[in-house]
Amino acid sequence: MKRMIIFCLCLSVLSGCSGKGKSTSTPAATQVPPTSTLIPTAPASPSPTRAPSPTLPQAAIFERNNRIGRAVNFGNALEAPNEGEWGVTLKEEYFPLIKNAGFTAVRIPVRFSNHAAVEAPYTLDAAFLERVDWAVNNALDQGLVAIVDMHHYVEIFEKPLEHKERFLAIWTQLAEHYQDYSPDVYFELLNEPNGQLTTELWGQFAAEAVGIIRQTNPTRPIIVGPGQWNSAVQLQFFTPPEDANLIITFHYYSPFHFTHQGAEWATGSEAWMGTKWDGSDTLRMIMRQDFFLAADWGKRNNRPIFLGEFGAYSKADMDSRALWTDAVARTAEELGITWAYWEFCSGFGVYDPVANQWREPLLDALIPQK
Ligand code: GLC
Repeated sequence: MKRMIIFCLCLSVLSGCSGKGKSTSTPAATQVPPTSTLIPTAPASPSPTRAPSPTLPQAAIFERNNRIGRAVNFGNALEAPNEGEWGVTLKEEYFPLIKNAGFTAVRIPVRFSNHAAVEAPYTLDAAFLERVDWAVNNALDQGLVAIVDMHHYVEIFEKPLEHKERFLAIWTQLAEHYQDYSPDVYFELLNEPNGQLTTELWGQFAAEAVGIIRQTNPTRPIIVGPGQWNSAVQLQFFTPPEDANLIITFHYYSPFHFTHQGAEWATGSEAWMGTKWDGSDTLRMIMRQDFFLAADWGKRNNRPIFLGEFGAYSKADMDSRALWTDAVARTAEELGITWAYWEFCSGFGVYDPVANQWREPLLDALIPQK
């Protein structure tokens, strides 16, 4: 079935929004804001930089973040309404392939909200959870860090207060379920909060979720990022939960007209076809400034940073994609930011599941051969 897509977009990370979002429910109008400028918009009332809590043993969580290293997302699989409906069904062979290519972690986006009861106690579907376990266990068997990411809970973005209890109940179950798993299983609270779930409100939900998870998983790394689709610009408004074992995440798809040209879920994106990224000094400088926002925030707040998604869609030309992908990965690495490419074998895919081979220019960009 063809996906019905909501799309709200901002062009650049600097304009205050990571620039995308989609759902499977209501179609909506697209707004295309003006092209990015180099100067970030001044915040209305930025939260003051908080001194790091002296009680937090920060070294441990920085090490845990470093274990993520270079990761890839299993996009369009378990976060489709049902696995397979977006063209990707995970296969056992993918895990050793990923490991042998040099990746060190997988982010597993999962639409838990489609597989939990709508009434309290919001019980998760056991067979679906088994399938998620299968993916997690396959990753662990390869020595990969496995990030269990709650993805596409679109209803909570529209009606956060109505869905809060259910969101927390799902995490209560997941936390209990994974409490005895390897420390290499990390939790990601919610992919790309947006809409009515503002950065501030989300900060409150996240604090409660962390509190719940800590009852059963006292030290497991929890990944959490700000609102507006995990935009780096929103970090300045984000107050992360007081917890020693958090990794802070953001996503990067800028310039959006380049990375999302021809993307079926991005209204108007046909017109962006042909946009190239030539790696000029100016483009690289803009990218560096975007990343500096996140790196600098991490430094000031003494938090490790993970770039959970970045990628350029397959409709862009391969030379530009490879150049951009290499620039993002290297910039992140220089700034001590770990990363996960979006994604493995679908529209942004670094792997071609039909030819059963890596797309070498992308793989080389991600994991350069020495
Ligand atoms: C977000 C969306 C995902 C989409 C990607 C690129 O992660 O959740 O579905 O493919 O961004 O737009």
